[in-house]
Amino acid sequence: MMTDLEVAGPIGVFDSGIGGLSVLKHIRRLLPAESLLYVADTGHLPYGSKPPDVVLRRSVAISRFLVERGAKAIVVACNTATAVAVAELRQQFALPVIGVEPGLKPGISRSRGGVVGVLATEGTLGSEKFRRLVSAHGQQRQVIVQPCPGWVEQVESCTFDSAGARELIASIITPLLRQGVDTLVLGCTHYPYLRPLIQELAGPEVEIVDTGPAIARELQRRLDLLGLLTDSAVAGDERFWVSGDARSAGWQFARLWRPGCLLEPLPDSVK
Ligand code: DGL
Repeated sequence: MMTDLEVAGPIGVFDSGIGGLSVLKHIRRLLPAESLLYVADTGHLPYGSKPPDVVLRRSVAISRFLVERGAKAIVVACNTATAVAVAELRQQFALPVIGVEPGLKPGISRSRGGVVGVLATEGTLGSEKFRRLVSAHGQQRQVIVQPCPGWVEQVESCTFDSAGARELIASIITPLLRQGVDTLVLGCTHYPYLRPLIQELAGPEVEIVDTGPAIARELQRRLDLLGLLTDSAVAGDERFWVSGDARSAGWQFARLWRPGCLLEPLPDSVK
């Protein structure tokens, strides 16, 4: 079924915005020889408060775009898009599709007897996939699910430690701590950028779970199984597309990826 996939082909990654770069960073570190394609669907951000059918349509259109550019695997670097679209993407496209989901299982195993808080978008927390995750793993501990309105936009503004950011994070974290939360699961790929602030406000005793490194390892495992890992000493290249304004996204990528990183506009047919 997957004989057309090329070992030298790139890995396609997408998110609603720059959040997926928190996953891409771990992929780049683990798989330096792989070429990477990244789509930030900034023209349709945020996904978390959009109806599932909109997120599904965007996920299919972007995945098709990545497949047309030769992707040998797709990483849905977005919890919200994974929750509503990963099953459909696996049906439509004959290549490995790696999704991300809140790390509830590792969160429960790291909790020292307290309550586990899952921080994610409304779209993720309201999905059937997330309900199944909680009923599979959430029995051994009390789990509090917590939407975080404004956090995605805070990350997109690339201000991670302003007075406004502190107030926004504290307004969610403080009530959770009062309820005995000792472990916080970052169930949105934007949130790892707020991790230092979350840790500072929650205190050093609180465990924070980010699944970014595990996603990169899972991608490596799947590519290896299929004989699709690139074996080369040459660093893989990278291409980036955005569906919103490419110029205004430039400084975000310069800050979170690297200065001078070239952003291309997504073709109109995919916007
Ligand atoms: N970064 C995404 C996620 O992991 C989407 C955030 C959004 O656009 O609402 O859920």
